[in-house]
Amino acid sequence: MRSVACLLTLVVSTVLGQTVVPPSTWNYTYPWPVKYHNLTSQRLNLSMAYMDVAPTSYATNKTIVLLHGKNFCGATWEDTARRLSTHGYRVIVPDQIGFCKSSKPPAYQFSLQQLAFNTNSLLQSLDIAQVKVLGHSMGSMLATRFTLMYPDVTSHLILTNPIGLEDWKALGVPWRPIDLLYADELKTNYTTIRNYQQATYYVNTWKPEYDVWVNMLVSLYHLPVEGPTFAYNMALTTDAVLTQPVTYEFGLVKAKTLLLIGTKDNTAIGKAWSPPAVQAKLGNYSVLGRETAAKIPGAELVEFTDLGHAPQVQDSERYHEALFEWLDRVG
Ligand SMILES: *[C@@H]1O[C@H](CO)[C@@H](O)[C@H](O)[C@H]1NC(C)=O
Ligand SMILES: *[C@@H]1O[C@H](CO)[C@@H](O)[C@H](O)[C@H]1NC(C)=O
Ligand SMILES: *[C@@H]1O[C@H](CO)[C@@H](O)[C@H](O)[C@H]1NC(C)=O
Ligand SMILES: *[C@@H]1O[C@H](CO)[C@@H](O)[C@H](O)[C@H]1NC(C)=O
Ligand SMILES: *[C@@H]1O[C@H](CO)[C@@H](O)[C@H](O)[C@H]1NC(C)=O
Ligand SMILES: *[C@@H]1O[C@H](CO)[C@@H](O)[C@H](O)[C@H]1NC(C)=O
Repeated sequence: MRSVACLLTLVVSTVLGQTVVPPSTWNYTYPWPVKYHNLTSQRLNLSMAYMDVAPTSYATNKTIVLLHGKNFCGATWEDTARRLSTHGYRVIVPDQIGFCKSSKPPAYQFSLQQLAFNTNSLLQSLDIAQVKVLGHSMGSMLATRFTLMYPDVTSHLILTNPIGLEDWKALGVPWRPIDLLYADELKTNYTTIRNYQQATYYVNTWKPEYDVWVNMLVSLYHLPVEGPTFAYNMALTTDAVLTQPVTYEFGLVKAKTLLLIGTKDNTAIGKAWSPPAVQAKLGNYSVLGRETAAKIPGAELVEFTDLGHAPQVQDSERYHEALFEWLDRVG
């Protein structure tokens, strides 16, 4: 552990009491140029990576923000971003602090509120006053928090297999110390990620193209200097999503809302370390999608009864057809 601490000092420099955590050294190739929004947060100078994709063919003056899930990055939205840009949208695709190409602080008070605040700060820096927000997984939970905090900014909310549709701790998931979460994260490798994604994302099937996103994630955990910090950030974000439910506030959402749900999903934070009787109650998306759609005023629900946690990857054509049908209809 001593060597890890020494390595960290290489990436974090403190000048006059202000600690600068530079952007990630992760060299994964993104489909569009990566820009950085610098922000000072929690006594740290941080850089938030994002892509700003201009509309192609024609412009509608509409902007959409795509929020990645916990096991994905901004780059995973390439297909969706390309389709939206040819549909006249400006598409903003951030990597959250702690993730992917953004700064990975050695310690940070992660909360959905802080990540929503950071995302709004990025939009303000770009002079963007109103957006549609589309999230996947943790990005959908974050999109919900963003919408609750910034109702005037968020005209439309699109949730793709969100986590946080139920309060896991209230259903019996024990709190897990961050040190144990970190130890779990340090064991991550290709096999652990693939097994998890096969069972929750892809309904126990596998296609070679799914490996792209597994290998992308593995490369973050295996970064020579930042890998352990990334693992620690992932432990901290697991604690944040477990302890900070949004499910009680769906009734307060003001944005026009669409839920896109693969009902074969069974994701639930903490299921892995819960007793079997608790596990059995968690992550039933055929129930959770309908319950959530009923809670959000005016929400529409599209279910994909044969798809899992990542319908946008598993059946891109069907997912985007449903997305654009709704976007074009509700305006
Ligand atoms: C941190 O950011 C603030 C605000 O932009 C800036 O004034 C300060 O110089 C930065 N600190 C360092 C050490 O770069
Ligand atoms: C943002 O911060 C990084 C260092 O962390 C620096 O290299 C870069 O120049 C800064 N960008 C702007 C626009 O200030
Ligand atoms: C990216 O970094 C890895 C080591 O982390 C290295 O093996 C690889 O060659 C680098 N790729 C590029 C395109 O620089
Ligand atoms: C986009 O906004 C500009 C400036 O506000 C306006 O002139 C233009 O008509 C708008 N275009 C569309 C397609 O709404
Ligand atoms: C991944 O880790 C597990 C244990 O956590 C181990 O059984 C497996 O062999 C490892 N796989 C690879 C590809 O390293
Ligand atoms: C989900 O709940 C429904 C309704 O209670 C039930 O019929 C179904 O078997 C459950 N699915 C799973 C995977 O537990």
